[in-house]
Amino acid sequence: MSVSFSDLNLDKSLLSALEAAGYQSPTPVQAETIPAALDNHDLMASAQTGSGKTAAFLLPTLQKLIQRTTKPGKGPRALVLTPTRELAQQVEKNAREYGKNMPWLRTVTLVGGTSFGQQIRALGRPIDLVVATPGRLMDHMRQGRIDFSRLEVLILDEADRMLDMGFIEDIETIVAATPQDRQTLLFSATWDGLVGKLAQKLTNNPQRIDIARQETQGKIDEQLLYCDDLRHKNRILDHILRDSDIDQAVIFTATKAMTEQLADELYEKGFSANCLHGDMPQGWRNRTLMDLRKGRIKILVATDVAARGIDVPSITHVINYDLPKQAEDYVHRIGRTGRAGRSGLAISFAEVNEYIKVHKIERYLNRKLPEQTIEGMEPTRKRSKPANNKGGRRRSNSSGGKGGWQAEQGRRNGGSGNSNGGHKSYGRGRDGNYSRSGSGNRNGQARSAQAK
Ligand SMILES: Nc1ncnc2c1ncn2[C@@H]1O[C@H](COP(=O)(O)OP(=O)(O)OP(=O)(O)O)[C@@H](O)[C@H]1O
Ligand SMILES: [Mg+2]
Repeated sequence: MSVSFSDLNLDKSLLSALEAAGYQSPTPVQAETIPAALDNHDLMASAQTGSGKTAAFLLPTLQKLIQRTTKPGKGPRALVLTPTRELAQQVEKNAREYGKNMPWLRTVTLVGGTSFGQQIRALGRPIDLVVATPGRLMDHMRQGRIDFSRLEVLILDEADRMLDMGFIEDIETIVAATPQDRQTLLFSATWDGLVGKLAQKLTNNPQRIDIARQETQGKIDEQLLYCDDLRHKNRILDHILRDSDIDQAVIFTATKAMTEQLADELYEKGFSANCLHGDMPQGWRNRTLMDLRKGRIKILVATDVAARGIDVPSITHVINYDLPKQAEDYVHRIGRTGRAGRSGLAISFAEVNEYIKVHKIERYLNRKLPEQTIEGMEPTRKRSKPANNKGGRRRSNSSGGKGGWQAEQGRRNGGSGNSNGGHKSYGRGRDGNYSRSGSGNRNGQARSAQAK
């Protein structure tokens, strides 16, 4: 028997917000998590990408917040910690959407890279929900701006990733400042290693919820394409991006510099592409993601900063231009497509000497990646295990080899006479400052995205 949201003892205000959001019934992780959380259990939950974990922790939390507190103070009643700034912002956005019929609800995102002023003002009045990355939250805590005495619910989203990013000490400090009798809801892709130990420490008799992958919950088709070298890889990429089935795509690369270089190269070829990585000023990061959400860019070239949690339902394709360093990141990267029951295509490039990396991913997945070739673009080199890799892979520079991506950025900042519209790129000028470039639209018309 299928469960409906109205079976879950949620307040009318939440039910009507869910209806407005177009949610017809709870996803499996929501159906299990919501009653357990409403029953005040601590939880350790995991479920596949795009399966609605955010609402699984926000709905019972908002339901709790509806019962107004009598506790004095102005500290948050619920706190969500996330590994990235973008994810924190997205979670707060979801909270506002689900809480849209709770006009008294006050939420704030506390993340780095943005000014303190607005955050400090928000904390100056009683706040219901704080969504934060650990670093900025700690900054506020050190200044004595946060009082956790009213805190009822603590949530860690992508807990394993936060530990990978080295946030363990911050998390322990934050948790130590919260009341013992809080409810703790942990969401993580794995409970192996450190994150399992942390979970034991943070929770009290937790209920484990592990939702196995559901075939009906969105289907991500996968392809593995071997390439001879970078030139071959770029030819294949170009071929794929000209596929008219692409609505929006995320391309993952191994380095920040490569996101910029590749986004530039794609832009020069006429694709509506931009890059996202952790060294970009936060304003640009926000703008780029907003442009992606609004469909103003079709191709996002990103590092793993975009691998976790980011929800842009119109992403139809994920391309692993470089294979992820850690096998589990493969799952998160490809999970940027095929969200909420949609289908998607994930294509991974491997150079012929990257056989071991592929094998590692396959071992992690416990299945083979479906290998494919494109007619007329088959690899010609023999596959081999990586030898000692004389100096590793070399990146060619399609802009003529004059100093790599920095030269490229400098050239663009200096005005290359490029009249493409719709491309809001950012770059680092020779002075090392970040600046916007390439946004001029001399024709008053956006050059069409060929990826469309
Ligand atoms: N019950 C529902 N019915 C329809 N759509 C839903 C439902 N719950 C969530 N969604 C939508 O599903 C998408 C994915 O949700 P969400 O980002 O919470 O997934 P997730 O499990 O956290 O994924 P990830 O592991 O990538 O972080 C969102 O666009 C969300 O609006
Ligand atoms: Mg999520």
